[in-house]
Amino acid sequence: MKELKVQPIKNGTVIDHITPGAALKVLKILDIPEQERDSIVSVVMHVEGKTGKKDIVKIENRELRAEEVDKIALIAPDATINIIRNYEVAEKHRVGIPDEIVGIVTCGNPNCISNAREPVTPRFVVKQRKPLRIQCAYCERELKDISAGLL
Ligand code: CTP
Ligand code: ZN
Repeated sequence: MKELKVQPIKNGTVIDHITPGAALKVLKILDIPEQERDSIVSVVMHVEGKTGKKDIVKIENRELRAEEVDKIALIAPDATINIIRNYEVAEKHRVGIPDEIVGIVTCGNPNCISNAREPVTPRFVVKQRKPLRIQCAYCERELKDISAGLL
């Protein structure tokens, strides 16, 4: 029997297959609760899915921006973004990590040129995907806490 943890939504976005425990980081990326005062947001953590434990975030009446999806990929690489329209899954996208991550996380090195006053867009090279390891393209320092560096 399939246990229903959270009700289906009519319109909005379901972020599914989030790395267990990472749901709160997803909410932070989406700037919830600040941004979402009028729509219902539901979060389930540590539910048993077909392939093990996962978190799920449902946001009614909101579709995500590409930049938000790119950030979610960095902290929940197996997530799927389901766009729900009139109760149906209208679109399903897997998040993806590009070879280079540009402009969405900052370098942890305070002396890095990308942290200087000049406008230099932070840029990271992906060294390893599972688990994700990224290295600053300017100072070559590895970013240890990716979620802390998110812009
Ligand atoms: N969902 C929802 N409201 C709807 C339709 C779907 O909240 N009206 C949720 C489902 O509960 C699920 C996610 O959206 O968490 C994706 O739905 P669906 O594609 O039907 O589920 P699965 O086939 O299990 O998805 P996947 O293959 O990606 O695991
Ligand atoms: Zn750097």
